[in-house]
Amino acid sequence: MSERFEPYRLPRLSDEEMVAQSRAFFDEMNTRRSVRVFSPEPIPLEAVRNCIDTASTAPSGAHKQPWTFCLVTDPALRKKIRKAAEEEEFKNYHGRMSEVWLEDLKPFGTDHIKPFIEDAPALIVVFKQVHDTVDDTGKKPNYYVNESVGIAVGMLLTALHRIGLVALTHTPSPMGFLAEALGRPDNERAFLNIPIGFPAEGVEVPVLSRKPRADVLVEHHG
Ligand SMILES: Cc1cc2nc3c(=O)[nH]c(=O)nc-3n(C[C@H](O)[C@H](O)[C@H](O)COP(=O)(O)O)c2cc1C
Repeated sequence: MSERFEPYRLPRLSDEEMVAQSRAFFDEMNTRRSVRVFSPEPIPLEAVRNCIDTASTAPSGAHKQPWTFCLVTDPALRKKIRKAAEEEEFKNYHGRMSEVWLEDLKPFGTDHIKPFIEDAPALIVVFKQVHDTVDDTGKKPNYYVNESVGIAVGMLLTALHRIGLVALTHTPSPMGFLAEALGRPDNERAFLNIPIGFPAEGVEVPVLSRKPRADVLVEHHG
């Protein structure tokens, strides 16, 4: 990696502009919801690729960029992924999940049937690279992989929301079948399966409230 440095500048906003723009961006992001029923209509894949480019600008431990995004529209592949996911989820809902977990999931009305994997026009399956490529010296490490990939996914969800697409952060567990289905190399582990698309006509989402600022922000000023 380069040890050279280059000048870096950003436009400087007034304090008033900063407050107004941050509030407007909050209002925009506050309309993001996880959607579980998708319209089958196709989506512009070039726009999705741009969102993935945005995700890939995320900071990462030692700039290792330890992520791979698989963009899947192939119906046969989605069918295969759905079948494998439903087999794992059946085991989760029928024994592997604790009573508390099942109780916590009740408000979302979820079960082991996952039609969104086939109904959504595309999946973005995100893989984390648990170590870097292997060379003569052996495995080269990656650092803070979960943190790095989590930040990248946050930026991906934000970018998708900005262009009016909805997404579901789906975590079938265990997720090993995704690496196999998508032919990923040994250093990659599935991180999230993210069906994306337009929301289905008339779709509803669970009523939920977000924690107020006072519950999530602790300030210390000297
Ligand atoms: C790491 C992670 C895993 C999740 N896994 C699932 C999942 O497997 N199935 C699902 O229906 N929703 C899943 N969700 C979505 C959450 O239920 C949802 O984000 C939460 O209820 C808040 O709703 P909102 O996204 O509409 O604000 C997951 C979310 C996150 C961040």
